[in-house]
Amino acid sequence: MTEAPDTRVRQFRSALGSFATGVTIVTTRTNSGVDVGLTANSFNSLSLDPPMVLWSLAKNAKSLPAFLESGYFAVHVLSSSQEELSHTFATRGADKFAGLRIERGRGGIPLLEGCSARFQCRTAVKYEGGDHLVFIGEVEAFDHFDRPPLVFHGGRYAAAVAKPKPAAAPASEAGDPDSSFSEDFLIFLLGRAHFQLFLGLRRDLERHGLTEWQWFVLSILGVRDNRTVAELDEILWRTGTRVTYELIASLVAAGFAQLHGSNDPHARVTLTEAGRRVVIELVAAAKATESHAELNLGFAESQLLKQALRSIIRETDPGLPPLRSPTYTE
Ligand SMILES: Cc1cc2nc3c(=O)[nH]c(=O)nc-3n(C[C@H](O)[C@H](O)[C@H](O)COP(=O)(O)O)c2cc1C
Repeated sequence: MTEAPDTRVRQFRSALGSFATGVTIVTTRTNSGVDVGLTANSFNSLSLDPPMVLWSLAKNAKSLPAFLESGYFAVHVLSSSQEELSHTFATRGADKFAGLRIERGRGGIPLLEGCSARFQCRTAVKYEGGDHLVFIGEVEAFDHFDRPPLVFHGGRYAAAVAKPKPAAAPASEAGDPDSSFSEDFLIFLLGRAHFQLFLGLRRDLERHGLTEWQWFVLSILGVRDNRTVAELDEILWRTGTRVTYELIASLVAAGFAQLHGSNDPHARVTLTEAGRRVVIELVAAAKATESHAELNLGFAESQLLKQALRSIIRETDPGLPPLRSPTYTE
């Protein structure tokens, strides 16, 4: 049995998708002054001297006549924050330039802002290539900016992260047996990063006279209160602390929580007004610490880090109840 042609096309497209590319928007302007553009990942460098680039355009693209009649085009290498723009320019019939700030380049072509690099080109040659036309342009002007690029891989947008150069092992570690402690341990790295990020928040906790464990209970009540002592314990015991009646009583004494019921696991706990205020303040402080850390990391690395942490959490989940839905039934 032979494969149906559309299956072959799909397989060919998906094989091509294993080649990671950047994403560009190519723009031009018709002789009558209409701005035109589309998303393209077929862009590539061609020649350094003279400077030349190429890209290909589907013969059925609406923008084909504009690129054929105009003698110029501009290629914009998109930055990692321009996924939405990429989507707009890949949508046939969309009002692509609406609301965009535009500069004018060679031949009046529209130049977009916020990208990683821009190449203004004079169309030098056009070649037929199956169902596409290959446009080769001589680069007359270009500029580039220090912004991380948007990546396209396997049919999805992605972010580029530089792989670290393999670090030479410190002299003391070079000949260490496998059983010795290493600063490259994932558990060590996770723990140290956590404690260092938590340092700032710890000072805020001390200001309110709160321990780490009291804060964990308050933060869970901040997501949803009116939980039983047993339910709070169910969520927290794997972190190494037990939520006891005494722990809750200490929050009651501090004026942050209220207990409804007597000394038993079914007693319900709610936040007081002061408790809610302190949670809001401490969550804001935690978010500020996080924003600062993310700023240092950069968008792409922080997304990758969160993705990696989520998969570790998923893989090692001992069966924690979800935070947002009730888990305890009497
Ligand atoms: C990531 C990505 C890359 C694309 N690359 C190309 C390309 O290289 N050439 C092309 O003709 N279309 C490409 N497309 C499809 C066009 O952007 C899309 O068909 C667009 O609607 C064409 O616009 P038009 O028909 O208004 O001219 C790509 C789309 C995406 C999402």
